[in-house]
Amino acid sequence: MKNKKIVFIGMMGSGKSTIARELAKRLDFVFYDLDKIFEEKNNTSICDFFEKFGEKTFRAQEKQILNSILEKNSFVVSTGGGVILDEFNREKIFSKDIVSIFLKALPETIYDRIKNETHRPLLRVENPKAEIEKILNERSKYYSKAQVTIETDNKAVYEIVEEIIKKI
Ligand code: S3P
Repeated sequence: MKNKKIVFIGMMGSGKSTIARELAKRLDFVFYDLDKIFEEKNNTSICDFFEKFGEKTFRAQEKQILNSILEKNSFVVSTGGGVILDEFNREKIFSKDIVSIFLKALPETIYDRIKNETHRPLLRVENPKAEIEKILNERSKYYSKAQVTIETDNKAVYEIVEEIIKKI
């Protein structure tokens, strides 16, 4: 497998970083983690960045970083759950030369995975479970445009990676 641009999308807590990293290892591709690159570039956590500059500024920079990665060749990138909110990002991610992979998970699974974590500004709310359902409702129409959709509930990392390799 050569020259593929593989982009993982999906909700917070859907396992994008873990699965994308594993897949990159298996394919011997470079792996990029958009959130990590963002934090390294700004020398701050996403949470602190949200607090200081707000979501709009975050989205603008996230867009810039994503698009500079998409110019490269042969890579796997794990994106932040909100990149598909931007129309230009969607046009790129769902274009023919990119393999987009949506890691699908039920709200309960997502909640279970994130309930002990504190680093996601959008889920620092009183009722994170309801918030997950709300965000998922708003974004499902975009996530479902991915070339490949993988159901991740109750599956181990290696199973998911195998399934992806068979499909791409
Ligand atoms: C966000 C998801 C996060 C991060 C930011 C906003 C979102 O990334 O980019 O907190 O809007 O869904 P993960 O999906 O990697 O948690």
